[in-house]
Amino acid sequence: MLNDMTKTNNTAIIVAAGSGSRLASETPKQYLKLKGVEILAYSVQSFRSHPEIDEVIIVTSENFLEHVSNQHPECKVVKGGETRQDSVFNGLQACSPDTHVILVHDAARPLIPSRVIDRCLASLETYDGVAPALKPVDSMIQLEDTGFKNLQRDNLRIIQTPQCFHIDILRSAHASGKIDTDEMGLVKQSNAQARLGFIEGAPETMKVTRQIDLDIIEKYLDTVEN
Ligand code: C5P
Repeated sequence: MLNDMTKTNNTAIIVAAGSGSRLASETPKQYLKLKGVEILAYSVQSFRSHPEIDEVIIVTSENFLEHVSNQHPECKVVKGGETRQDSVFNGLQACSPDTHVILVHDAARPLIPSRVIDRCLASLETYDGVAPALKPVDSMIQLEDTGFKNLQRDNLRIIQTPQCFHIDILRSAHASGKIDTDEMGLVKQSNAQARLGFIEGAPETMKVTRQIDLDIIEKYLDTVEN
C-alpha cells in the first residue's frame, strides 16, 4: 500500500559512506572540519534539532563506523555500500517500523536551513517525492562532437538534498532493479505515476567538493555568526 497514513515517523538518512576522492585529502570530506566542527556534524545537528524529524540514521564506511557511533551516540549508524544508492538502501533497512517519510541527505552538504526541511515536509502532502532545486545563474551549454549547444537556463535546475519521499515509494524504487545517481532519478525511472515535485533550495546547501567550497562555507558561517 502506498502512503500508509498509520505510520508517523519522519526519518533522515545521512549518507556519509563516500571516499570523497575529488578533494585532495586522506580524510573523506565529510570528516573534515569547518570552524572546528566536522562537516557531518552540521547536518546531523540540523535534523536532530528540527521538531518534525524523529530519527536520524547515518550511513558510513566500515572504517568510520566506530568513530561516527562515538560522535553521534543519539543516531543509528549503519555500514554503507559500494554506491550511494547501496548506502541509501542500507539506511532504509535500518528505519524504524513507524517511518512514514524518508529524507535522504548528502553528508557532504553541511548547511540545510530548517525552512528547506519545512518546505519539503509540507510538499509531501501533495507529492510522493520532493527535492530542493536551484535555478542556475550561469549560462549553460551541452558539449557535442563538433562544438556545443546553448541550453535554455530557465528550464534547468540544480538538484540538492534532502530528497524526501513517502517511504513505500522509495522502497519500491529500490526493489525495482533500476540504478540512478539520486533518489529523484531512481523513483522517476521506476514509477511513471509517481508525483515528483521541487521546492526552492538554498545556495548554502552547496556540496563540498573542492577546497574552495570549504573556504566559502567558512566565510559564510562567519557572516551568519556575527
Ligand atoms: O560522491 P558524491 O559527492 O556524489 O556523494 C554524495 C554523498 O553520497 C556523499 O555524502 C557521500 O558520502 C555519499 N556516498 C555514500 N556511499 C557511497 C558513495 C557516496 O554514502 N558508496
